[in-house]
Amino acid sequence: MEVIEKVFPNTSEITSLGKLEIGGCDVQNLAQKYGTPFYIFDSEHIENVCDTYNTEFISRYQNTQVVYGSKAFANKSIFKIILDKGLGADVVSGGELTLAILCGINPEKIYFHGNNKTEIELKLAQEAGLSKIVVDSFHELELLNSLSQNNYVIQDILIRLSPAIELDERTHKYTTTGILDSKFGFAIDNGDAEKAINLIESMNNLNLIGIHFHLGSPIFSIVPYVLGIKKVIEFLSQFKNLKLKEFSPGGGFAVPYTIEDKTPSVKEYAEAICNTLNESLDFFNMPKPKLIIEPGRAIIGPAGVAIYSVGAIKNIENVRKYISVDGGMGDNIRPALYGAKYEAVVINRLWDERPKEKVTIVGRYCESGDILIKDILLPEIKSGDIIAIPVSGAYSTSMASNYNMIPRPVIISVKDGMDSIIRKRESLSDLFKMDV
Ligand code: LLP
Repeated sequence: MEVIEKVFPNTSEITSLGKLEIGGCDVQNLAQKYGTPFYIFDSEHIENVCDTYNTEFISRYQNTQVVYGSKAFANKSIFKIILDKGLGADVVSGGELTLAILCGINPEKIYFHGNNKTEIELKLAQEAGLSKIVVDSFHELELLNSLSQNNYVIQDILIRLSPAIELDERTHKYTTTGILDSKFGFAIDNGDAEKAINLIESMNNLNLIGIHFHLGSPIFSIVPYVLGIKKVIEFLSQFKNLKLKEFSPGGGFAVPYTIEDKTPSVKEYAEAICNTLNESLDFFNMPKPKLIIEPGRAIIGPAGVAIYSVGAIKNIENVRKYISVDGGMGDNIRPALYGAKYEAVVINRLWDERPKEKVTIVGRYCESGDILIKDILLPEIKSGDIIAIPVSGAYSTSMASNYNMIPRPVIISVKDGMDSIIRKRESLSDLFKMDV
Protein backbone atom coordinates (compact mmCIF):
# COMPACT_ATOMS: atom_id res chain seq x y z
CA MET A 1 0.00 0.00 0.00
CA GLU A 2 1.56 3.26 -1.21
CA VAL A 3 0.78 5.30 1.87
CA ILE A 4 2.29 2.68 4.20
CA GLU A 5 5.45 2.49 2.08
CA LYS A 6 5.87 6.24 1.66
CA VAL A 7 4.89 7.88 4.94
CA PHE A 8 4.69 5.24 7.68
CA PRO A 9 7.71 4.40 9.85
CA ASN A 10 10.40 2.09 8.40
CA THR A 11 9.30 -1.08 10.16
CA SER A 12 5.61 -0.77 9.20
CA GLU A 13 4.07 -3.61 7.28
CA ILE A 14 0.73 -5.12 6.46
CA THR A 15 0.66 -8.77 7.45
CA SER A 16 -0.88 -11.53 5.33
CA LEU A 17 -3.96 -11.18 7.53
CA GLY A 18 -4.27 -7.50 6.54
CA LYS A 19 -3.11 -6.14 9.91
CA LEU A 20 -0.84 -3.12 10.35
CA GLU A 21 2.30 -3.87 12.31
CA ILE A 22 4.86 -1.32 13.44
CA GLY A 23 8.05 -2.47 15.15
CA GLY A 24 6.64 -6.00 15.02
CA CYS A 25 3.58 -4.98 17.07
CA ASP A 26 0.00 -5.27 15.83
CA VAL A 27 -1.37 -1.73 16.09
CA GLN A 28 -4.97 -2.89 16.59
CA ASN A 29 -3.83 -4.99 19.54
CA LEU A 30 -2.05 -1.95 20.95
CA ALA A 31 -5.28 0.02 20.61
CA GLN A 32 -7.03 -2.70 22.64
CA LYS A 33 -4.28 -2.75 25.23
CA TYR A 34 -3.80 0.98 25.77
CA GLY A 35 -7.07 2.49 24.57
CA THR A 36 -7.17 5.41 22.13
CA PRO A 37 -6.03 8.03 21.42
CA PHE A 38 -2.35 7.17 21.62
CA TYR A 39 0.91 7.90 19.83
CA ILE A 40 3.27 5.19 18.75
CA PHE A 41 6.98 5.69 18.02
CA ASP A 42 9.12 3.29 16.02
CA SER A 43 12.47 3.23 17.90
CA GLU A 44 14.30 1.50 15.08
CA HIS A 45 13.19 4.20 12.69
CA ILE A 46 14.58 6.92 14.97
CA GLU A 47 17.87 5.03 15.30
CA ASN A 48 18.13 4.64 11.52
CA VAL A 49 17.55 8.33 10.88
CA CYS A 50 20.19 9.29 13.48
CA ASP A 51 22.63 6.94 11.70
CA THR A 52 21.74 8.42 8.31
CA TYR A 53 22.32 12.00 9.49
CA ASN A 54 25.62 11.03 11.12
CA THR A 55 26.82 9.15 8.04
CA GLU A 56 25.70 11.57 5.33
CA PHE A 57 27.19 14.62 7.05
CA ILE A 58 30.33 13.16 8.64
CA SER A 59 31.33 11.42 5.40
CA ARG A 60 31.35 14.82 3.68
CA TYR A 61 32.51 17.06 6.51
CA GLN A 62 34.26 15.03 9.15
CA ASN A 63 34.06 17.57 11.94
CA THR A 64 30.26 17.53 12.19
CA GLN A 65 28.10 17.27 15.28
CA VAL A 66 24.48 16.33 14.72
CA VAL A 67 22.25 17.89 17.35
CA TYR A 68 18.62 16.85 17.91
CA GLY A 69 16.14 19.76 17.84
CA SER A 70 14.41 18.54 20.96
CA LYS A 71 11.50 20.97 20.75
CA ALA A 72 10.07 18.52 18.20
CA PHE A 73 9.56 16.04 21.06
CA ALA A 74 11.52 16.07 24.31
CA ASN A 75 11.16 12.83 26.23
CA LYS A 76 13.44 10.69 28.42
CA SER A 77 13.25 7.60 26.21
CA ILE A 78 13.86 9.61 23.06
CA PHE A 79 16.86 11.35 24.66
CA LYS A 80 18.23 7.89 25.49
CA ILE A 81 18.31 7.03 21.76
CA ILE A 82 19.82 10.44 20.98
CA LEU A 83 22.52 9.84 23.58
CA ASP A 84 23.28 6.31 22.30
CA LYS A 85 23.66 7.64 18.76
CA GLY A 86 26.10 10.34 19.85
CA LEU A 87 23.83 13.24 19.00
CA GLY A 88 23.72 16.42 21.01
CA ALA A 89 20.57 18.35 21.93
CA ASP A 90 19.26 21.75 20.91
CA VAL A 91 17.19 23.04 23.83
CA VAL A 92 15.13 26.21 24.17
CA SER A 93 14.07 26.32 27.80
CA GLY A 94 15.08 25.43 31.33
CA GLY A 95 12.76 22.43 30.97
CA GLU A 96 14.39 20.96 27.87
CA LEU A 97 17.83 21.80 29.25
CA THR A 98 17.17 20.05 32.56
CA LEU A 99 15.80 16.95 30.83
CA ALA A 100 18.79 16.76 28.47
CA ILE A 101 21.23 16.99 31.41
CA LEU A 102 19.21 14.48 33.44
CA CYS A 103 19.36 12.04 30.52
CA GLY A 104 23.11 12.27 30.41
CA ILE A 105 23.64 14.39 27.30
CA ASN A 106 27.11 15.92 27.54
CA PRO A 107 26.76 19.68 28.30
CA GLU A 108 29.40 20.24 25.58
CA LYS A 109 26.82 18.99 23.09
CA ILE A 110 23.87 21.00 24.40
CA TYR A 111 23.02 24.14 22.41
CA PHE A 112 20.81 26.56 24.30
CA HIS A 113 18.68 28.60 21.91
CA GLY A 114 15.83 31.05 22.46
CA ASN A 115 15.06 34.70 21.80
CA ASN A 116 14.21 35.52 25.40
CA LYS A 117 15.93 33.17 27.82
CA THR A 118 15.30 34.26 31.38
CA GLU A 119 18.00 35.15 33.88
CA ILE A 120 17.10 32.01 35.84
CA GLU A 121 17.53 29.87 32.73
CA LEU A 122 20.89 31.43 31.89
CA LYS A 123 22.06 30.79 35.45
CA LEU A 124 20.89 27.19 35.14
CA ALA A 125 22.86 26.83 31.91
CA GLN A 126 25.99 28.23 33.52
CA GLU A 127 25.61 25.97 36.56
CA ALA A 128 25.28 22.99 34.20
CA GLY A 129 28.55 24.08 32.55
CA LEU A 130 27.10 24.78 29.11
CA SER A 131 29.63 26.15 26.66
CA LYS A 132 27.16 26.49 23.82
CA ILE A 133 24.73 29.24 24.74
CA VAL A 134 23.41 30.70 21.49
CA VAL A 135 22.84 34.38 22.21
CA ASP A 136 19.98 35.95 20.33
CA SER A 137 19.82 39.65 21.34
CA PHE A 138 21.72 42.65 22.70
CA HIS A 139 19.73 42.30 25.91
CA GLU A 140 20.98 38.73 26.33
CA LEU A 141 24.60 39.73 25.59
CA GLU A 142 24.50 42.30 28.40
CA LEU A 143 22.73 39.95 30.80
CA LEU A 144 25.05 37.00 30.17
CA ASN A 145 28.16 39.18 30.36
CA SER A 146 27.12 40.53 33.74
CA LEU A 147 26.14 37.08 35.07
CA SER A 148 29.53 35.76 33.93
CA GLN A 149 31.28 38.71 35.57
CA ASN A 150 29.50 37.97 38.87
CA ASN A 151 30.57 34.31 38.64
CA TYR A 152 34.15 35.12 37.58
CA VAL A 153 33.78 33.04 34.43
CA ILE A 154 34.43 33.62 30.77
CA GLN A 155 31.43 32.22 28.98
CA ASP A 156 31.80 30.71 25.51
CA ILE A 157 28.92 31.70 23.27
CA LEU A 158 27.60 31.44 19.76
CA ILE A 159 25.39 34.14 18.31
CA ARG A 160 22.39 33.68 16.10
CA LEU A 161 22.39 35.69 12.89
CA SER A 162 19.51 36.46 10.59
CA PRO A 163 20.79 36.42 7.00
CA ALA A 164 17.54 37.59 5.32
CA ILE A 165 16.90 34.47 3.26
CA GLU A 166 13.30 34.12 2.12
CA LEU A 167 11.68 30.68 1.93
CA ASP A 168 9.10 29.64 -0.64
CA GLU A 169 5.35 29.46 0.10
CA ARG A 170 5.59 25.84 1.26
CA THR A 171 7.02 27.08 4.57
CA HIS A 172 4.42 28.78 6.77
CA LYS A 173 5.22 32.34 7.76
CA TYR A 174 4.93 31.36 11.43
CA THR A 175 7.89 29.03 11.02
CA THR A 176 10.03 31.26 8.78
CA THR A 177 12.81 32.72 10.93
CA GLY A 178 15.85 33.84 8.96
CA ILE A 179 14.34 37.00 7.46
CA LEU A 180 14.88 40.62 8.44
CA ASP A 181 11.37 40.96 9.90
CA SER A 182 11.89 38.27 12.56
CA LYS A 183 12.15 38.26 16.33
CA PHE A 184 15.13 35.92 16.10
CA GLY A 185 18.79 36.77 15.82
CA PHE A 186 21.03 39.65 14.82
CA ALA A 187 20.27 40.76 11.28
CA ILE A 188 23.19 41.14 8.90
CA ASP A 189 21.43 43.63 6.62
CA ASN A 190 20.74 46.36 9.19
CA GLY A 191 24.18 46.22 10.79
CA ASP A 192 23.10 44.52 14.04
CA ALA A 193 25.26 41.44 13.42
CA GLU A 194 28.39 43.55 12.96
CA LYS A 195 27.52 45.63 16.02
CA ALA A 196 27.05 42.47 18.10
CA ILE A 197 30.39 40.96 17.08
CA ASN A 198 32.22 44.20 17.88
CA LEU A 199 30.39 44.55 21.18
CA ILE A 200 31.35 41.00 22.24
CA GLU A 201 35.01 41.83 21.50
CA SER A 202 34.76 44.68 23.99
CA MET A 203 33.09 42.52 26.66
CA ASN A 204 35.40 40.97 29.25
CA ASN A 205 33.41 37.90 30.10
CA LEU A 206 32.09 36.61 26.77
CA ASN A 207 34.05 34.62 24.20
CA LEU A 208 32.53 34.26 20.75
CA ILE A 209 33.28 30.75 19.46
CA GLY A 210 30.65 30.27 16.81
CA ILE A 211 27.89 31.47 14.54
CA HIS A 212 24.43 30.02 14.11
CA PHE A 213 21.49 30.70 11.88
CA HIS A 214 18.20 28.87 11.41
CA LEU A 215 16.11 29.81 8.40
CA GLY A 216 12.83 28.10 9.21
CA SER A 217 11.05 24.81 9.33
CA PRO A 218 10.44 22.83 7.22
CA ILE A 219 12.61 23.99 4.29
CA PHE A 220 11.68 22.09 1.12
CA SER A 221 14.73 22.97 -0.96
CA ILE A 222 18.49 23.02 -0.58
CA VAL A 223 18.73 26.50 -2.11
CA PRO A 224 18.11 28.55 1.06
CA TYR A 225 20.90 26.65 2.87
CA VAL A 226 23.31 27.37 0.01
CA LEU A 227 22.41 31.07 -0.07
CA GLY A 228 22.49 31.36 3.72
CA ILE A 229 25.89 29.72 4.13
CA LYS A 230 27.44 31.81 1.35
CA LYS A 231 26.06 35.05 2.75
CA VAL A 232 27.06 34.34 6.35
CA ILE A 233 30.59 33.13 5.52
CA GLU A 234 31.18 36.14 3.29
CA PHE A 235 29.95 38.41 6.07
CA LEU A 236 32.22 36.70 8.64
CA SER A 237 35.28 36.90 6.39
CA GLN A 238 35.67 40.60 7.24
CA PHE A 239 36.28 39.88 10.96
CA LYS A 240 39.95 38.96 10.95
CA ASN A 241 40.08 38.53 14.76
CA LEU A 242 37.15 36.13 14.86
CA LYS A 243 38.23 32.56 15.64
CA LEU A 244 35.29 30.67 14.22
CA LYS A 245 35.29 27.29 15.96
CA GLU A 246 31.70 26.35 15.25
CA PHE A 247 29.28 27.05 12.44
CA SER A 248 25.62 26.03 12.39
CA PRO A 249 23.06 26.44 9.61
CA GLY A 250 20.40 25.13 12.02
CA GLY A 251 17.74 22.54 11.25
CA GLY A 252 14.59 22.66 9.16
CA PHE A 253 15.04 19.54 7.04
CA ALA A 254 11.71 18.66 5.47
CA VAL A 255 10.05 15.25 5.42
CA PRO A 256 7.08 14.11 3.32
CA TYR A 257 3.79 14.20 5.22
CA THR A 258 1.68 13.08 2.26
CA ILE A 259 2.41 10.85 -0.68
CA GLU A 260 2.53 13.91 -2.95
CA ASP A 261 5.16 15.76 -0.88
CA LYS A 262 8.58 15.98 -2.51
CA THR A 263 11.52 16.75 -0.24
CA PRO A 264 15.29 16.59 -0.69
CA SER A 265 16.95 13.48 0.73
CA VAL A 266 19.34 13.67 3.69
CA LYS A 267 22.14 13.07 1.18
CA GLU A 268 21.05 16.09 -0.88
CA TYR A 269 20.86 18.35 2.17
CA ALA A 270 24.27 17.09 3.32
CA GLU A 271 25.87 17.54 -0.09
CA ALA A 272 24.56 21.09 -0.43
CA ILE A 273 25.53 22.16 3.09
CA CYS A 274 28.96 20.50 3.24
CA ASN A 275 30.01 21.48 -0.29
CA THR A 276 28.89 25.09 0.10
CA LEU A 277 30.56 25.41 3.46
CA ASN A 278 33.84 23.91 2.21
CA GLU A 279 33.85 26.06 -0.93
CA SER A 280 32.98 29.28 0.89
CA LEU A 281 35.63 28.74 3.57
CA ASP A 282 38.25 27.92 0.94
CA PHE A 283 37.29 30.97 -1.10
CA PHE A 284 37.84 33.31 1.83
CA ASN A 285 40.82 31.34 3.07
CA MET A 286 39.19 30.66 6.42
CA PRO A 287 39.97 27.66 8.68
CA LYS A 288 37.38 24.87 8.95
CA PRO A 289 35.11 25.15 12.01
CA LYS A 290 33.02 22.34 13.47
CA LEU A 291 29.74 22.03 11.59
CA ILE A 292 26.63 21.77 13.75
CA ILE A 293 23.33 20.68 12.24
CA GLU A 294 20.08 20.54 14.15
CA PRO A 295 17.43 18.22 12.69
CA GLY A 296 14.33 17.91 14.87
CA ARG A 297 11.34 17.02 12.68
CA ALA A 298 13.41 14.83 10.36
CA ILE A 299 14.51 12.62 13.25
CA ILE A 300 11.27 12.19 15.12
CA GLY A 301 8.43 13.18 12.75
CA PRO A 302 8.19 10.15 10.46
CA ALA A 303 8.80 7.76 13.38
CA GLY A 304 5.52 8.71 15.10
CA VAL A 305 1.95 7.71 14.30
CA ALA A 306 -1.22 8.98 15.97
CA ILE A 307 -3.96 6.41 16.58
CA TYR A 308 -7.58 7.47 17.10
CA SER A 309 -10.98 5.77 17.35
CA VAL A 310 -13.93 6.96 15.32
CA GLY A 311 -17.01 8.05 17.27
CA ALA A 312 -19.72 10.25 15.80
CA ILE A 313 -20.26 10.36 12.05
CA LYS A 314 -22.29 13.19 10.54
CA ASN A 315 -23.21 13.11 6.87
CA ILE A 316 -24.57 16.34 5.40
CA GLU A 317 -25.87 15.24 2.02
CA ASN A 318 -24.03 16.99 -0.87
CA VAL A 319 -22.00 19.05 1.60
CA ARG A 320 -19.61 17.02 3.75
CA LYS A 321 -19.21 13.87 5.80
CA TYR A 322 -17.64 14.52 9.19
CA ILE A 323 -15.81 11.68 10.93
CA SER A 324 -15.14 12.58 14.57
CA VAL A 325 -12.21 10.97 16.38
CA ASP A 326 -11.29 10.91 20.07
CA GLY A 327 -8.33 13.29 19.74
CA GLY A 328 -7.72 16.40 17.65
CA MET A 329 -6.27 19.86 18.09
CA GLY A 330 -5.36 19.18 21.72
CA ASP A 331 -2.81 16.55 20.71
CA ASN A 332 -2.03 17.93 17.24
CA ILE A 333 -2.49 21.66 16.70
CA ARG A 334 -0.54 21.66 13.41
CA PRO A 335 -3.47 21.43 10.94
CA ALA A 336 -5.31 24.24 12.75
CA LEU A 337 -2.23 26.41 13.23
CA TYR A 338 -0.35 25.95 9.97
CA GLY A 339 -2.85 24.25 7.66
CA ALA A 340 -0.62 21.16 7.86
CA LYS A 341 -1.69 18.23 5.67
CA TYR A 342 -1.63 14.56 6.64
CA GLU A 343 -2.52 11.11 5.31
CA ALA A 344 -4.69 8.64 7.21
CA VAL A 345 -5.52 4.94 7.00
CA VAL A 346 -8.33 2.99 8.60
CA ILE A 347 -6.28 0.21 10.10
CA ASN A 348 -9.12 -2.27 10.53
CA ARG A 349 -10.12 -1.88 6.86
CA LEU A 350 -6.79 -2.24 5.11
CA TRP A 351 -8.27 -5.07 3.06
CA ASP A 352 -11.13 -2.90 1.81
CA GLU A 353 -10.65 -2.43 -1.95
CA ARG A 354 -14.06 -0.86 -2.60
CA PRO A 355 -14.31 2.70 -3.99
CA LYS A 356 -13.41 5.19 -1.36
CA GLU A 357 -15.52 8.09 -0.16
CA LYS A 358 -14.48 11.63 0.57
CA VAL A 359 -14.61 12.47 4.29
CA THR A 360 -13.29 15.09 6.69
CA ILE A 361 -11.66 13.87 9.90
CA VAL A 362 -12.33 16.18 12.82
CA GLY A 363 -11.34 16.15 16.45
CA ARG A 364 -13.43 16.25 19.62
CA TYR A 365 -12.48 19.76 20.72
CA CYS A 366 -15.06 22.54 20.86
CA GLU A 367 -13.96 24.48 17.80
CA SER A 368 -15.02 24.23 14.18
CA GLY A 369 -11.35 24.67 13.26
CA ASP A 370 -10.52 21.38 14.96
CA ILE A 371 -10.07 19.63 11.62
CA LEU A 372 -7.31 17.03 11.38
CA ILE A 373 -7.73 16.19 7.68
CA LYS A 374 -10.06 17.91 5.24
CA ASP A 375 -11.37 15.92 2.25
CA ILE A 376 -9.56 12.62 2.30
CA LEU A 377 -10.60 9.49 0.38
CA LEU A 378 -11.08 6.53 2.72
CA PRO A 379 -13.05 3.27 2.78
CA GLU A 380 -16.54 3.64 4.21
CA ILE A 381 -15.97 4.27 7.90
CA LYS A 382 -18.05 3.03 10.84
CA SER A 383 -18.01 4.16 14.46
CA GLY A 384 -15.43 2.15 16.35
CA ASP A 385 -12.99 2.03 13.42
CA ILE A 386 -9.38 2.87 14.16
CA ILE A 387 -7.60 5.60 12.22
CA ALA A 388 -3.83 6.00 12.02
CA ILE A 389 -2.27 9.34 11.03
CA PRO A 390 1.42 8.98 10.12
CA VAL A 391 4.28 11.49 10.43
CA SER A 392 2.83 12.66 13.72
CA GLY A 393 6.03 12.38 15.73
CA ALA A 394 7.22 15.99 15.57
CA TYR A 395 5.54 19.05 17.11
CA SER A 396 2.33 17.17 17.93
CA THR A 397 2.82 15.81 21.43
CA SER A 398 5.33 18.59 22.17
CA MET A 399 2.75 21.28 21.30
CA ALA A 400 -0.16 19.40 22.91
CA SER A 401 -2.46 21.16 25.36
CA ASN A 402 -5.18 20.34 27.82
CA TYR A 403 -7.72 22.49 26.01
CA ASN A 404 -11.25 21.56 27.09
CA MET A 405 -9.65 19.81 30.08
CA ILE A 406 -8.91 16.71 28.08
CA PRO A 407 -5.99 14.56 29.21
CA ARG A 408 -3.08 14.21 26.80
CA PRO A 409 -2.63 10.76 25.22
CA VAL A 410 -0.34 7.95 26.26
CA ILE A 411 2.81 7.56 24.14
CA ILE A 412 4.18 4.12 23.29
CA SER A 413 7.43 3.01 21.72
CA VAL A 414 7.77 -0.23 19.79
CA LYS A 415 10.72 -2.33 18.75
CA ASP A 416 11.22 -5.99 17.81
CA GLY A 417 7.70 -6.96 18.79
CA MET A 418 7.89 -5.28 22.22
CA ASP A 419 5.87 -2.24 23.24
CA SER A 420 6.46 0.07 26.19
CA ILE A 421 5.03 3.28 27.56
CA ILE A 422 7.36 6.26 27.19
CA ARG A 423 4.88 8.80 28.53
CA LYS A 424 1.85 7.92 30.60
CA ARG A 425 -1.65 9.00 29.71
CA GLU A 426 -2.75 11.92 31.88
CA SER A 427 -5.56 11.18 34.30
CA LEU A 428 -8.47 13.49 35.05
CA SER A 429 -6.93 14.41 38.41
CA ASP A 430 -3.67 15.37 36.65
CA LEU A 431 -5.68 18.06 34.91
CA PHE A 432 -6.42 20.07 38.01
CA LYS A 433 -3.64 19.08 40.33
CA MET A 434 -2.08 22.55 40.02
CA ASP A 435 -5.35 24.37 40.69
CA VAL A 436 -5.67 26.13 44.04
N1 LLP B 1 17.27 24.73 15.38
C1 LLP B 1 16.58 25.83 15.76
C2 LLP B 1 17.31 26.99 16.25
C3 LLP B 1 15.18 25.84 15.69
O1 LLP B 1 14.52 26.93 16.06
C4 LLP B 1 14.50 24.69 15.22
C5 LLP B 1 13.04 24.67 15.13
C6 LLP B 1 15.26 23.57 14.86
C7 LLP B 1 16.64 23.63 14.94
C8 LLP B 1 14.63 22.29 14.38
O2 LLP B 1 13.93 22.45 13.21
P1 LLP B 1 13.37 21.15 12.46
O3 LLP B 1 14.56 20.37 12.02
O4 LLP B 1 12.56 20.39 13.44
O5 LLP B 1 12.58 21.66 11.34
N2 LLP B 1 6.05 23.95 15.33
C9 LLP B 1 6.47 24.00 13.95
C10 LLP B 1 7.97 23.95 13.80
C11 LLP B 1 8.71 25.00 14.59
C12 LLP B 1 10.20 24.86 14.52
C13 LLP B 1 10.87 25.72 15.51
N3 LLP B 1 12.31 25.66 15.45
C14 LLP B 1 5.79 22.88 13.18
O6 LLP B 1 5.03 22.12 13.77
O7 LLP B 1 5.97 22.74 11.98
